[in-house]
Amino acid sequence: MKGVCIVSAKVFGIDFGTSTIKIYRKNDGVIFDEKNIIALCKGEVMAIGDEAFEMLGKAPDNFLVTYPVKNGVIADIANMLSLLNKALKIVADKTGKLNGAEVIVAAPTDVTEVEKRAFFDLAASSIAKPKKVRVVEKPIADALGAGLDVMNASGVMVVDIGADTTEISIMSLGGIVLSKLVPIGGNKFDELIINNVKKKYNLVIGQKTAETIKKKLAYAINPEHETIKVYGRDVMNGLPTEAEIDSEFVYETINESLHSIVDAVRIILEKTPPEISSDIIDSGIYITGGSANIKKIDELFGGETELPIKVSEDPANTVVNGLGRILEDSKFDCLAFSLKQTYYGG
Ligand SMILES: Nc1ncnc2c1ncn2[C@@H]1O[C@H](COP(=O)(O)OP(=O)(O)OP(=O)(O)O)[C@@H](O)[C@H]1O
Ligand SMILES: [Mg+2]
Repeated sequence: MKGVCIVSAKVFGIDFGTSTIKIYRKNDGVIFDEKNIIALCKGEVMAIGDEAFEMLGKAPDNFLVTYPVKNGVIADIANMLSLLNKALKIVADKTGKLNGAEVIVAAPTDVTEVEKRAFFDLAASSIAKPKKVRVVEKPIADALGAGLDVMNASGVMVVDIGADTTEISIMSLGGIVLSKLVPIGGNKFDELIINNVKKKYNLVIGQKTAETIKKKLAYAINPEHETIKVYGRDVMNGLPTEAEIDSEFVYETINESLHSIVDAVRIILEKTPPEISSDIIDSGIYITGGSANIKKIDELFGGETELPIKVSEDPANTVVNGLGRILEDSKFDCLAFSLKQTYYGG
């Protein structure tokens, strides 16, 4: 018994998402879940996370409000490290000093080794001064978070529809058989909504308003009539004005991009070895990621693939919960690996 609690208190799992950063602490669950965004003024960090997100679209010109993760990879290492260190400080204030912690991070599969390594290096050089950093393939964490026992499971397919990307993966016996990162996700839908609202309603709206419209009205198929009133700037006279947007308009706007995701899923299924395909016919497709919240997404994928569809219960947290399962259950420990060992044989 002695010492067990002290060790477990300093074991963390981190999911660096394009839109959110989530930190899991062993025994406690998700203890940090905020927007993965940083606000700077003349190089000095003014805010991170949800507080920085509040500044988006409102900050003066001398402020830089930016997302350091783009297309699923760390695009801005310096700002990501500043953001991570501030987030870890908040965690340390709640839980005590982090020095010597153990950290596991999730990294996408279909990226370069340099991009994957950046996740490892970031955690290793953080203020937590971890004594051990390991990486988990994001699709593996996704599958675990969706409740699958990846070690024993035969072929499974997981589709994680996030903010900038959709990661489509086939796994078998604890390993990844195929994985493809497609550059379409919730941010693309928001962007399309901004463009079409401007075209149809002559109204300029911001990113946050577009996301609100999407969360309220987005259907993947057969939209049920619903409306929302939004405010923006009139293109013609520049004055603040309002418009009523309906779910049919949002459906028309995002439909083509959603179908591009379905097409990418079909291509992966076509490349899947036949023995694994027959497993997937039984197990179906698991859909995760925040954009899995789009209404009737299961109906769209089910109709297009004729496979059983399971949408994860807490889709935005599936990866971080999967990291949590690895931290909590030693039988999954072998799924996390050290990059130093992988790359340098040490
Ligand atoms: N109810 C909802 N309806 C539609 N989209 C939603 C809903 N809730 C969240 N989203 C979208 O989910 C996305 C965030 O999902 P998630 O947290 O999985 O992304 P991420 O992990 O940060 O990104 P990525 O995996 O691409 O790096 C955002 O685009 C958000 O707008
Ligand atoms: Mg994600």
